[in-house]
This record gives sequence, structure tokens and C-alpha cells, in this order.
Amino acid sequence: MRKLGLHEVRKEFLDFFASKGHLVHDSYSLVPVNDKSLLLIGAGMAPLKKYFTGELVPPKTRMSTCQKCMRTGDLENVGVTARHATFFEMLGNFSFGDYFKREAIHWAWEFLTERLEIEKDLLWVTVYLDDDEAFDIWEKEIGLPKERIIRLGKEDNFWELEVGPSGPCSEIYIDRGPEYGDDTKPGGEGDRFLEVWNLVFTQFDKDENGNYNPLAHPNIDTGMGLERITAVLEGADNIFEIAAIQDIIKEIEKISAYKYGTDEEKDMSVRVITDHIRAMTFLASDMVIPSNEGRGYVMRRIIRRAARHGKLLGIDDLFLTDLAQLVIDSWSVSYRELKEKEDKILSVIKTEEEKFAETLDKGIEILASYIDDLKKSKKTTLAGADAFKLYDTYGFPLDLTKEILVEKNISVDEEGFKAEMEKQRQMARSASHAGENVGWSAQSSDLKIQGDETKFSGYDSTKGAGKILKILKDKNEVETLDQGDQGALILDSSSFYPEGGGQVGDTGQILGDDFVFEVEDTKKTKDGIIIHLGHLESGSLKVNDQVSTCVNQARRRAIARNHSATHLLNAALKKVLGDHVNQAGSEVTDHSFRFDFSHYEAVSKDKLNEIEDLVNKYIYEEIHSDIYEKPISQAYEEGAVGIFEDKYKDQVRIVSFPNVSKELCGGTHVEKTSDIGIFKILSEAGIASGVRRIEATTGENVYKLLKNLEGREEILIDTLKANKGNLLEKAQALVEENKNISKDLENLKKENARAGIDDLLKTYKEVSEIKVLSARIDGQDVNSLRELADELRDKLGSAVVVLGTASEGKVNFVATVSKDLIDKGLNAGKIVKEVAAITKGGGGGRPDMATAGGKDPEKLDEALDFVYHIVENLL
Ligand code: ALA
Repeated sequence: MRKLGLHEVRKEFLDFFASKGHLVHDSYSLVPVNDKSLLLIGAGMAPLKKYFTGELVPPKTRMSTCQKCMRTGDLENVGVTARHATFFEMLGNFSFGDYFKREAIHWAWEFLTERLEIEKDLLWVTVYLDDDEAFDIWEKEIGLPKERIIRLGKEDNFWELEVGPSGPCSEIYIDRGPEYGDDTKPGGEGDRFLEVWNLVFTQFDKDENGNYNPLAHPNIDTGMGLERITAVLEGADNIFEIAAIQDIIKEIEKISAYKYGTDEEKDMSVRVITDHIRAMTFLASDMVIPSNEGRGYVMRRIIRRAARHGKLLGIDDLFLTDLAQLVIDSWSVSYRELKEKEDKILSVIKTEEEKFAETLDKGIEILASYIDDLKKSKKTTLAGADAFKLYDTYGFPLDLTKEILVEKNISVDEEGFKAEMEKQRQMARSASHAGENVGWSAQSSDLKIQGDETKFSGYDSTKGAGKILKILKDKNEVETLDQGDQGALILDSSSFYPEGGGQVGDTGQILGDDFVFEVEDTKKTKDGIIIHLGHLESGSLKVNDQVSTCVNQARRRAIARNHSATHLLNAALKKVLGDHVNQAGSEVTDHSFRFDFSHYEAVSKDKLNEIEDLVNKYIYEEIHSDIYEKPISQAYEEGAVGIFEDKYKDQVRIVSFPNVSKELCGGTHVEKTSDIGIFKILSEAGIASGVRRIEATTGENVYKLLKNLEGREEILIDTLKANKGNLLEKAQALVEENKNISKDLENLKKENARAGIDDLLKTYKEVSEIKVLSARIDGQDVNSLRELADELRDKLGSAVVVLGTASEGKVNFVATVSKDLIDKGLNAGKIVKEVAAITKGGGGGRPDMATAGGKDPEKLDEALDFVYHIVENLL
């Protein structure tokens, strides 16, 4: 067996499959693209699903990857044993209708026994129950003894995700020897036989209803855990002991001054941190930002869990970025993005770790009060709503609450917690669905027409011709429409662009010999049938009528200007903010457009200006668009960006503004950038964690905006009695004048107060020959009260001064005693405490100066009257 490290095994594997004609692809992002069934990529095949099902055409029918993976189902167990991990790398080779079982098995064998030189005697395999074909290949072609080929059932030897490609599999095991357990063959409980490689013979596509639909052609999907096979080669007991990962453990030892292997509980903390630090570093490099939803929540949990386990190891300072740096330095040999995004990764982790430190203090305080209450009422379960409040308001993760409560023998009503969470989700959902146009698209999804889809002729011209195939009214198919009827027309061919790719649907008119149908909106079914929604303005129409389609041209031009501007903006954002910027959605109308993109912080005013300037520069460069179709694989090779949405199509449409932007796009665009006229950003804001939104507009809309501004300026001029030339000076002068007036007012108030002081001074009473001044002064804060008390005392020479004030249901007192009287036994702290007690409060301070607060303003006067008695009693 060769002794190879993690990074060497990875390279060895990819080189091997490259030599077998595979396209070696970089790891895909941990964040699934266009796949709502997955939170994170958890297997090498997951990003390639659409190649397996045939929905998309792969760049090559043989591919191989080392895919970063996260499996979070077992998060609680990570660290508890040395076997669980959230983050791992999966080596895989894939065939999309190319080779099948024979090659997959032969190459796996060749790689293990010849490349890695693993002794053949140590290898065992399993096959699916009745898979004689695989059994025979292992036995007859590879020469594996029958006893070492075990048939296992669906539980072990059938691989599937919730939905997507699946099939029977054959797994390869390594016999680690009797010292690992007394099991005698793979498939049992013990640790002796370690599964290293799973060869899946992908034959089905499992749908949402659990049906296994046969695929057009069989595929191969294999997966080998990189850390696991490295552990075998390094003779390590488990993945935490392989050299690359030991480096992280050593660093934790250094930071925490704890030696791994000396205490079981602390070992667990070390393992949690060791696993989570890789997970968070890679997630951050894929722009997953901590939040309270979905992936962001996974990120938040692992950062906070790691931070908390750091505390358990006695680490007081922030420490995660030091460890993340180590991961970046080590793993960037294969993952360039780690170095490229180094600063961002470190800043994402640091920010969350800091936030958590604050949260921890606050959350622990609140949880302690909950625990107190539970103890008092002799309860042992924390209410779900309380746990949710901790989570939702203070960012205190449920698992952390549980971990702390377990130590106190208290459990959490998790069902209650989930119910609260669901309630919140529902609220968020109903908010985002408000106003959505439902109905037509839902019912029309079953529509079928001759020729399958509507031919779209609107790229070249806004005018076209067609024939009415179907008429819909009140969600039924009808033969005719009468004047005034609301309805929808379906034609064989149309120049109306249906809403899609973020662009709104066209409006306009469909004209027949004797009718006018006003199109108010245009949509498309998932099968590509265009639906013209509107009403019959005049005349009557029926199925089979020949029509001309006339799109509202001015509106279409405004939409095209905005749509092309989104492409230029996308390019400018990448240029100014960095390559991590990815489009996360857009909405283009004739008035303006919204463009959502991934970015981790607000865009500064300077950067926004730079972006705006750049887009306008592209506009004035008069770049002619180049729009063409290409096979998808070539489009990606050319560096086109965007998400390809149409199914079953190999050809994609590319919209290019040469040297600036190249995107996959089905929308309508300007001929040259200068047609856009002018571009103006209207706003920039965050809409979700890690996602920003820019709203902007172009062309005529900017002109309207200018007119609007001009109007506002005129109103300002009028109001300030200024003219265009001196508007600014006039406004500045007004502000200055206002400032002076405020200052004068302030001084006046002070003078008034001073006059008041003289009056006040006269109000003292003598108590056993001591001057005692007790007075109520409302509308003052404690500081000015204190200053006033000092002044009164100094003016009186030898005296006790107590002042009280009341506002918003609260009372404040200040007491001061001159030095000579302190010697006589008077004490400002004692006096103020007794006074405040009358107003249900308390306080204290030094013998010469003290303050106190109270809660009952109604008692303020009574309390102040009492001062004389207090002084008397103290003497
Ligand atoms: N997709 C298979 C697995 O993850 C290879 O085990």
C-alpha cells in the first residue's frame, strides 16, 4: 500500500480518471444551483443531476471530480464519535450514458490495487441482491473469490437522494484486521470492514412522489470519501488522525493549551472544531453568510458551535480565523477560491464569532432567568416559545440551549419550538406571495397545442402574424369571444414576449380583420405555449382566425433598454466588487429594473458611483450586441454567465456585448449599448443575508426623473425665496441662522435658570442650625441636577442640598453635603437612600455627593419634605 497524503490522493485519483478519458472538473460550489430539493451539495453527483437525467447535455459524457460536500443531518453527532463529519471531499467518476458496470468496476479495482497498491487480499465487495451482472464481473473478470462478494439488500446497496438519479450499487470495503472488531464480513455492525468506495449503477430518476422512473440510458456515479481512503493509506485510525487534519488539531492544541487524547469530553470539542472549521471556511468561500434561514443557518450553527466548544476548551479570545487561515493555506492547493476569497472568508467568520460572543453573554443571562423560573415552578421542560425567542431574538441556537439545559436536567419542548419556527416561516411566505398572479399559469400548464409550443417571432420584429389555436375564458376553453370579454388567446406564432428570465410580458394588440384584442400581459406555460391575456376591445373573434400581432413598441424598447442595462450592470458589479458577485434574480419592466446579487456587505457610495460610471461608459462606447445560439458546453467554455433554464435543449441563446458581457439569456435587447441612452441607480439595499438589490433605470425614465428633480428644485426655490444661482448659499445660510437661534435659546434658558437659582437659594430651612435646601426641579437630567446642587451648596457655604426631578414615570434625586457637615455625621449617600425609598427606589454614593432613582413620581414632593426629618435624625 502506498503512503499518500490527502492532497496527493486527490491528485492521483483525478489524474487516473483523466487518463481514462474523463473531463476533470473543479469542485462545484457547495451551494446547489437551480435545485430546490437540496440545501447543500452532499455527494459528488448532486451538482450533475441534470446530466444524469438528460435534462442538460454534459460537456463530456465522462467526467470526474473531487467535490466538496456537506452533510448536516448528523450535526449533533459530529465530534461525539470520530466517525462523523459534516464536511468532506468526495472523489467520483461519472458516466452519462457512456460506460457502465464493467468499466466502472475494472477501473475502481485498477485504481485501488495498481495506483494505490492496496493488497488485493484486503478488499471485499458487496453487490445488490439480484445483480448477477455485477457479481459476475467481480468474480469472473476481476477474480475476486466468491466468499468476498456479499449480496446485500436495498438498505445497503441502493443509492438515492430524496429526488433524482438513483440505482443499485456495489461497494468496496477494506479489511482493517481483527483488531478493529470481530465481524467476519462487510455489512455488519463492527468497524473491521471499512467501506471506501461506492459504485452506483444509476438507472432511475426518483420523482417527488417516490416513483422510480427508468432513465433513457444507464449511468455511472461513484463516490469515494477522500479523507477515508487517505486514513487507510496513512494507517490512521480515523479521519481525525490523517496528517492534513492533524495539523488543525495541533493548532487547536497550541491555542487552547490542551493536549488531544487526555480527556474524552475535551477531545470531542477538538473534533467539533476540527470538522467545523473546514466546513465554515469552504461555506464562506461559496458565499454562504450566517443567517437564520436555510444554508445561512447551517453556517451560523457551525460557527457558533465551534466557538462554544472553544470556550469549553478554555479559549477566551476569538480563535476561529487563525484556524481558518490554516485551512485556506493547506487546502488552496486544490481549491483556488480559498486564496482568492481569503479576506472575505476571514471577515465572514470573524464577524459571526464576534457577534456570537455578545449573544452568548446576553443569551446565557436570559436562559439563566428561564432556568430560575422553571426551578421555582418545579418544571423540567423549557417552553418551545421561550427556546424560539432565544433563537429568534438573541440568535441563540436551539442545540446550544439544549446543551446547556441538559447539564441542568431540563429538556426543551422541541415540537413547540418547531411550531413557532413554522409560524414564522408561514408569515414570511405569505408576505412574499402577496400579489402574485396565479390562475392562468396554473390551469394552463396542462394545455397542449399542435406543434407543441408557440413559435416566438418577436426577436426580429415586434410585428408578426399567426392563427388563433385556442381561446380561454373564465379558465375554460371556448370557441369565440365577444366584445368586452376578458380572455386569453393562444396562437401558433407570436411576436409577444412572454414573461420569463426576469423580463415582464409584452402588451399590445392582436388584430383580426374585424376585431381588436388588447393584450394586457403575456405569459408562457412550462411547455413553451404563449398565453396572451387581455380583453376583446371591439368586434368578435373565433378559433382559426388569422391575426397580426402588434407589440407596444415604445414599451418594448424601454424594456429592452432596461434588460440590456442589467447585463452591463452585472458586468460592472463583477469588475468593481469582484468575481464572487453572482446574479440572484432580476425583474425588468419598462419603468425600471431590480437586480439582485450575492455580496456580503452594503455597497459604499463610492463604489456605487464607480459602478454607475462604468455602466454609462459602456453605454457611450456604443457596443453592438451580438446574439447567437451555441451548444451549452461551448457556451460555458466561452465563459458565458447565467443560468440555463430551458429543459431538454442543447442550444442556448447568448447575448453578448463584446468584451464587456456575455450571458445566457432569452430576453429582448437593444442593438447597441448607446440605445440605452443613460443609466441611473435609484437605490441599493440588502434584501436577505448576503444578497443585495440594486434598483435602477434607463433612457426616457431618467429624463422623467430629471424633470421631477427640476420640479422639486423649483418648489425649493420658491419656499426659500431663492433663485437657481443662490439656492445652495441660501440653504446654508438658513441652517447657520437656525443654529444661532438655537444657541441663543439655550443661553436664554440658562439665564432663566440662573435667576431661578437666586430664588431657590432663599428657600432653605434651618434644621438644628444647619442649612437644608430641599427642592423639586422638573425637566432636568441627573447631570445638570448635580451641577445645580453643587452650585447651590457652594453658594450656601455650609449646607445640605437635595434636589428631585420627575419625568416619564421616573424620579431622580441628587444629594450633596458640604465637607464640614460630613464631620458632624451627615452623609449624602444615606440621605438620598432614605429619600428615594419613599418613591420606591434606591441609590447611594459618596458622603459628599450621591444620586438615587425612584418609581413613584406622585411621592416626590412628600419625599422632598421628608429631607428635613432625615437630617434631624442623622445629627
Ligand atoms: N452518490 C454516491 C454516494 O454518495 C456515489 O455514495
